[in-house]
Amino acid sequence: MLAASDASTVGIFLDTDPRRQAVCDAVRRLAVDAGMAAYLVGGPVRDHLLGVPVKDLDVAVVGSAPSLAQKLAEVLGGQLKVHPKFRTATVSLSQFPRRSISVDLVTARRETYSRPGALPDVEPGTIADDLGRRDFTINAMAIPLSGADSDLVDPHSGRADLEAGVIRTLHRDSFVDDPTRMFRAVRYEQRFGFRIDDATLADMQSALAGGAMATVSGPRIDNELGRLISERHPLPGLRRATELGLLAAIHPAMPTMAHWDALDGWSSVPPGAQPADREWPATWDAALFWTMTHDQVASLAMKNPYRTRRCRYVDMLKEGMPMLSADGLLPSEVCAFLDYPRPEASAVYALTVALAFAEPVAAERIRRYLTEWQDLQPHLRGSDLLELGVPEGPAVGEALKALRKARLDGVTRTRQDEGTFVLQWVPPSE
Ligand code: CTP
Repeated sequence: MLAASDASTVGIFLDTDPRRQAVCDAVRRLAVDAGMAAYLVGGPVRDHLLGVPVKDLDVAVVGSAPSLAQKLAEVLGGQLKVHPKFRTATVSLSQFPRRSISVDLVTARRETYSRPGALPDVEPGTIADDLGRRDFTINAMAIPLSGADSDLVDPHSGRADLEAGVIRTLHRDSFVDDPTRMFRAVRYEQRFGFRIDDATLADMQSALAGGAMATVSGPRIDNELGRLISERHPLPGLRRATELGLLAAIHPAMPTMAHWDALDGWSSVPPGAQPADREWPATWDAALFWTMTHDQVASLAMKNPYRTRRCRYVDMLKEGMPMLSADGLLPSEVCAFLDYPRPEASAVYALTVALAFAEPVAAERIRRYLTEWQDLQPHLRGSDLLELGVPEGPAVGEALKALRKARLDGVTRTRQDEGTFVLQWVPPSE
């Protein structure tokens, strides 16, 4: 259901969000002064009508977006980035407390595609042209920020689709022109609990059957996958993308439904061993590429150094599985493998993925690593060691390491045991 909010005044966020309202007011003043028409468009209009929090602001300008953006950056003290080729600009307003707001300004435009999957060729157009080039009806609405008339501009019945919870494209070739929209459809469907309209779904299937996904460059695929796993709850979207054949269309070795079914074991990961919120995307990334070899991932040419690195970790973890299943492995040996210092914390979080797929013996060891061994430290501290006669310097660190190993493997248990251990361990003085 839509929120009771009324888009018929320019005070769009007046009651709910003074920071965004202040930005809209500034855009309105500057647009009127410059004799341009400016509209709030796309995601913020959709989210505002839905009554969900609005993130960044998208503004369409009938005139010149870069010049309006420059003035906006000046009056609000934001950082300006202009993309002359597309006549767009971004103003980042980091002075707002809590989270910065980014304002994307586009020059209202008409788009044509020289070939499927390519970036579009653009030329200036009206607001109707600009809404008509967009992906879904729910993203093709605008609220005028300048001028006397502030009624919702909704030429494709986006508001009715929002109310009905339907994702619908504006024309039959939408997915062929821009196959990344298939991922976008899945994201919105799962995020809002909507459904993809039947005709839209049929168009998606025929675009896939026609090989549309192969026309998308690696970095654009990378971007879409990144956005999918950055959703609040990535698993339903990943499952849906798999079910619809989007992942298989990227590469046949990408995960199947069985992979995501196996990930249900993830729910048994104890809370203390769950990745922190900010690490979730990295962990999901590992899940996404778990079924692929490093070379297969490289063949996608995504050119994302983080992903390349993460894929190496995933390879390392997969290679380590037989070792982690071996008979008689000591806890300290498990730690020696999993503790290995890596440039990214995500490596450790990726282990939670391994947990879901590993052999039971390895899985149990990883679970104990994450919940017990990882943070297990000796009872004695460096100062205790000095008192016991360990010479100052590197020997203290060595002794602490040896003590941790002894505690992990059950050689020592109490503080007293550790004292005895250290006295035996102390290197003979000269
Ligand atoms: N858009 C489009 N086709 C695409 C990408 C974007 O038509 N392949 C349009 C949509 O109208 C979208 C707007 O550009 O609303 C801005 O794109 P983006 O910031 O990616 O979308 P949001 O709707 O803001 O999405 P989200 O809520 O996921 O940030």
